[in-house]
Amino acid sequence: TGMFTYDPGFMSTASCQSTITYIDGDKGELLYRGYPIEQLATNCDFLETCYLLLNGELPNATEKEKFSSLVTKHTMVNEQMQFFLRGFRRDAHPMAIMTGLVGALSAFYHDSTDINNPEHREISAIRLIAKMPTLVAMAYKYTIGQPYMYPKNELSYAGNFLHMMFGVPCEDYKVSPVLERALDRIFILHADHEQNASTSTVRLCGSSGTNPFAAIAAGVACLWGPAHGGANEAALNMLYDIQKEGGVEKIGEFIKKVKDKNSNVKLMGFGHRVYKNYDPRAKLMQETCNEVLTELGLEKDPLFKLAKELEKIALEDEYFVSRKLYPNVDFYSGIVQRAIGIPVNLFTGIFALARTVGWIAQLNEMIGDPEYKIGRPRQLFTGSAPRDVKPIAQR
Ligand code: CMC
Repeated sequence: TGMFTYDPGFMSTASCQSTITYIDGDKGELLYRGYPIEQLATNCDFLETCYLLLNGELPNATEKEKFSSLVTKHTMVNEQMQFFLRGFRRDAHPMAIMTGLVGALSAFYHDSTDINNPEHREISAIRLIAKMPTLVAMAYKYTIGQPYMYPKNELSYAGNFLHMMFGVPCEDYKVSPVLERALDRIFILHADHEQNASTSTVRLCGSSGTNPFAAIAAGVACLWGPAHGGANEAALNMLYDIQKEGGVEKIGEFIKKVKDKNSNVKLMGFGHRVYKNYDPRAKLMQETCNEVLTELGLEKDPLFKLAKELEKIALEDEYFVSRKLYPNVDFYSGIVQRAIGIPVNLFTGIFALARTVGWIAQLNEMIGDPEYKIGRPRQLFTGSAPRDVKPIAQR
């Protein structure tokens, strides 16, 4: 059966045509709709970035205002959601909760979830972008036993998320502008990354004509894995482990384990299928890390020091150099999130929240493409030749 090209891991197969995100892996460049990520992260906020990814152009002031107020109007979730949430154990992983909650949204909007109807797609997009922070914060509050905080519409997208995460009803919560800006930047840096595993999952899932909430729930499930979005959690846990073993002095020993092919230990937050150079998001994340730690008076944070030292040693090591392994976005994002106060097991939930807009933009692009078909890969069959079933007594 030589009819099909065999390409495990899609190393050389373009699954679609896209106008959304461009990555030059050799140069370490990332562009959303033609705009360099560095410029977006410096000059725009997350909602402007969402507008850009969805519509192809940055909004002007009027468009931005309209889009923000539309998103703001949809930040609450149906009160029934909290009863669904209550079915989970308190120690459930937030990503287990998120896969359930996002899928469940489809049950609340079943009159407007026809993926082939552009109006339905538009309102579903707004609902998802608006409600993800509410759901992530609810999952967190539930696991720590605190009351849910309703969204506050006068706050920014990131500010409102901080309020829902860290506010309590008995006290006023003051959003720190530096933390708000840092979180907003985390959202921008994670907003899209062309045809990665979770985005391809969303496209494939949506190609069957399922509703947008179900397709995004599939993306959340895929993102959870440690080789993908789960790497931020794994990277921080790795740093904690090295720290526990003795910190900077133990880096050499750890690197030795990583290089040992029988050990199965990876340097988490390093390496990328497409980037064979420094991930531009990692650079921006390291900058943000500096800013946040300085703001909080944590410049001497031993974990940040350890991460920088680990990076330095790896980048000089022949193993990493020859394989072109550089830090990726997840290497520093955990340290920033931890400094903001976000618990480690919620890191991937934050990634899902931010990536939702990318998933939707990609899904909408696919559905709008006149050439789009259901995704249906073929296989090279390597199993048994035809044979006859024997009666059970003769098997
Ligand atoms: N630590 C040690 N060795 C590594 C690492 C690493 N982090 N990443 C790749 N390698 C080695 C790998 O063992 C292989 O060596 P050899 O050629 O001797 O067999 C070589 O480098 C090529 O790697 P690969 O696994 O064939 O590359 P891939 O494109 O299939 O995998 C990856 C890419 C991101 C899954 C992988 O680099 C990895 O597992 N990194 C750690 C997890 C991580 O940080 N993931 C986040 C990715 S960025 C954000 C996101 O997508 O969510």
